[in-house]
Amino acid sequence: MIKVGLIGAGFMGSMHATCYEALKDEKITITAVADIRNSYATKIANQFGASIYEDGMSLINNADVDVIDICLPTYLHTEHAIEAMKKDRHVFIEKPVCLTKSEGDKLLIAKKETHKLVMVGQCIRLWDEYVYLKKIVEKNEYGKVITATFKRISPLPTWAWNNWLHKVQLSGSVALDMHIHDSDFIRYLLGEPNGVNAVASRNNKGVIQQMFTTYNYPNKVVVAEVCWDYPDSFPFCMEYRVKLEKATIVYDSTKIPTLIVYPTHGESFTPKFNQKFTDTNDLGGNVSSLGGYYNELKYFTKKIKEKGAIEIAPLNEGIKSVNLVLDEIHSAGGAKL
Ligand SMILES: NC(=O)c1ccc[n+]([C@@H]2O[C@H](COP(=O)([O-])OP(=O)(O)OC[C@H]3O[C@@H](n4cnc5c(N)ncnc54)[C@H](O)[C@@H]3O)[C@@H](O)[C@H]2O)c1
Repeated sequence: MIKVGLIGAGFMGSMHATCYEALKDEKITITAVADIRNSYATKIANQFGASIYEDGMSLINNADVDVIDICLPTYLHTEHAIEAMKKDRHVFIEKPVCLTKSEGDKLLIAKKETHKLVMVGQCIRLWDEYVYLKKIVEKNEYGKVITATFKRISPLPTWAWNNWLHKVQLSGSVALDMHIHDSDFIRYLLGEPNGVNAVASRNNKGVIQQMFTTYNYPNKVVVAEVCWDYPDSFPFCMEYRVKLEKATIVYDSTKIPTLIVYPTHGESFTPKFNQKFTDTNDLGGNVSSLGGYYNELKYFTKKIKEKGAIEIAPLNEGIKSVNLVLDEIHSAGGAKL
């Protein structure tokens, strides 16, 4: 049995708990939970019969676990991840893995010294519709990518403990928090861009709320948009539209079907996915399905059992994606004016 210590039992910690519940047959379970809000930790601990710790560091220092799963506000990721690696635990860290280049460097040093498995929660790399696109491009099924647009737009997220999401020094703004999903996927799909150009709109405190980026690649045009201050009634939406030489593929999380392939010749069609876990959440956050989260935790725990390397979303990839978003923020004039 793989014993998991879950740190942070808020929105994302609850999502992970739901996924671990669904993974019980895989011989993995939560045996320890930490949250400074006792009632949040208790809710998950009762579900699993797990011990409760008053904060993340006390769990890392005292719980008998194999894995530390970090669902803390982003500014707390680095110190907890380093401590967990030093205590000989494998680590799963939510995205964005860290906030700065120097935090990324410290994490890489700890990983090198401890040789633990570390995976970053870049769940889009395991989201069915994005997995499909990655395979199509890798297999060159419809030729090369000509243009690609990615979008992630949301009403204002309001669930965060102590409003940490809207304190730019704690979350890195919508750019680092939400947009990293697309920057990371663009790198994963097309490789490192030669540069970025970004423009942003801001709230009355000068903090980025919406950003548009173009990524410089030879022979293709790649753009992305992120926004998290649409009206409350606006549905959360993630999208891509990719024009290849022999087809255009469109994904829109708000539509049914979500994904349509339009070949240059012939009828459009919707690929069938063998979705393993399609539960939806009622946790008040801005995602529509738990599939990608389930897939990533299943993949991570499989690698632990096999003693294999993390190939999808390893630590160094999560850090490169943070660095790319930091370049975008710099191009846009800074996360806060
Ligand atoms: N992969 C995704 O799609 C996705 C979606 C949302 C959030 N996230 C990421 O997940 C992480 C957590 O975000 P969230 O939305 O769950 O935030 P949240 O505010 O809902 O939850 C954070 C929890 O951490 C607890 N906490 C704070 N300090 C603590 C400490 N020292 N020890 C133990 N608990 C402590 C808080 O009480 C809170 O319950 C962030 O990095 C965020 O960017 C990822």
